[in-house]
Amino acid sequence: MSHDHKPSAFGLRRNLTSYGDPEFSLFLRKAFIKAAGFSDDALERPIVGITNTFSDFNPCHGNVPRLIEAVKRGVMLAGGLPMEFPTISIHESFASPTSMFLRNLMAMDTEEMIRAQPMDAVVLIGGCDKTVPAQLMAAASADVPAIQLITGPMLVGHHKGEILGACTDCRRLWGQHRAGVMDQDEVEVVSGRLAPTQGTCMVMGTASTMGCLVEALGIALPGSGTIPATHADRIRAAEASGRQAVALAGQGPRPSELLTEAAFRNAMVVLQAIGGSTNGLVHLAAIARRRGLKIDLEEFDRIGREVPVLVDLKPSGAMYMEHFHWAGGMPRLLHELRDHLALDAVTVTGETIRAIADGAEDVPGQTIIRSLKTPLKATGAMAVLRGNLAPLGAVIKHSAASPDLLQHTGRAVVFESVEDLVTRIDDPDLDVTADDVLVLRNAGPKGAPGMPEAGYLPIPRKLAQAGVKDMVRISDARMSGTAFGTIVLHIAPESATGGPLGLVRSGDMIRLDAPARRLELLVDEDELKRRAQEWQPPRHLTEVSRGYRGLYLKSVLQADEGCDFDFC
Ligand code: FES
Ligand code: MG
Repeated sequence: MSHDHKPSAFGLRRNLTSYGDPEFSLFLRKAFIKAAGFSDDALERPIVGITNTFSDFNPCHGNVPRLIEAVKRGVMLAGGLPMEFPTISIHESFASPTSMFLRNLMAMDTEEMIRAQPMDAVVLIGGCDKTVPAQLMAAASADVPAIQLITGPMLVGHHKGEILGACTDCRRLWGQHRAGVMDQDEVEVVSGRLAPTQGTCMVMGTASTMGCLVEALGIALPGSGTIPATHADRIRAAEASGRQAVALAGQGPRPSELLTEAAFRNAMVVLQAIGGSTNGLVHLAAIARRRGLKIDLEEFDRIGREVPVLVDLKPSGAMYMEHFHWAGGMPRLLHELRDHLALDAVTVTGETIRAIADGAEDVPGQTIIRSLKTPLKATGAMAVLRGNLAPLGAVIKHSAASPDLLQHTGRAVVFESVEDLVTRIDDPDLDVTADDVLVLRNAGPKGAPGMPEAGYLPIPRKLAQAGVKDMVRISDARMSGTAFGTIVLHIAPESATGGPLGLVRSGDMIRLDAPARRLELLVDEDELKRRAQEWQPPRHLTEVSRGYRGLYLKSVLQADEGCDFDFC
């Protein structure tokens, strides 16, 4: 037992609670932490905070307790003191009205807890879609040395000899159920097979996308973003992240040294090459904004013309995260993408992206990670559209769309809101054909509010039953990264703030020309001006709202700025 009474040299002095007497503050802090049984020796170590985002409502984070145990082991093996602390946790399916509505709350919670408590470095454990963006936004603002640890993807599911992936196949099979092909009993069985283990959705949805982007940004250990949630390597990655956090506590680099313009450019290249989630673009914009940087949508589009999709994962391709991992994961992809990357960008270990690319494993015969010469798709995952319907831009994931619909002119069938969509989409009398363009509005950041993943409008039941699998659908909403279809998203400005999407009427003609990057409402300008004069904002935006909802409605920015709060 230590009888050394010198005051803590390191962590405990950080962020002292203000009582007007700093030595008293430290004395009181030590008195209370000693109630937990810590020795002076322990308290003199570098302190590594570990975010605990475990929640019974978040199965994607089901392995967090074991990861925390391993991070703590790593911290202690390296001579640090691990201190676990809770933050809120967000699961996609257990967040009403939407997970996006809560992402900024988690970012604020995480940032303020990092700022408030004494820690010399922090290990951020996240996985489900909004958690990693929230944690990176927090780390970018707090700028305490940080390392991201991903909970990891689930293993694949199996049903009747078919491999299933959450949630590309959730949507596909639900579509079959809606079309009357799959009965209620089978749907119940399938609900137990789509997500068979702890961890995050194992297709290239938002969680997997962020797992890849944290490696591209250099803020996670190389190779750690793709390890399945249930594997022993995942536990070892946690231990190694804990060890690395102790090194960071001493010498950095800090998030501000990692999250640079070059890092964000690398992330944009990777986002195109993995067939990543459209949400990834919104999140990157939000994280960059916390560092005073802007994700330039035109540059992102240019990258997409040069960098093809190389990773064969659903929904753009056929396979799953565990296959990507065993094919060499992110280091292998960085190796294939070398010509397009800023190779001197440094990462959390001090290694450059070049060194990680050089050290990539070569897995003979693997076909999941393609080379630039044999890409999965000729271009990148996403294109940025402009036009009189989207003055501030819109996004289409053309790698997961029907090629024959990418240039299409059709009659608008307008849904006023998500509720209107739910009420009318399956009406047998709905005036709709397969050639029409389904339009959803008031589903943006402020409109819904919370920018729901409603952009994947269902095919009207009568058309689905007739065998229609895809239609052009446009909205100011988001879409799950796991979804497939010819779907234009994130139209900005959104209709609820007066964007031109709010002026479309059923029967108007709309032209989508993805190769030319255009989205046009074929109505003459005078008529649109006349309609704009009659336009009214949705009622919830003219009423006073209290609490977090009030803060959100007042402060949330548009998709092109990452839907962060204007004051963050
Ligand atoms: Fe959590 Fe898909 S629901 S990652
Ligand atoms: Mg998702």
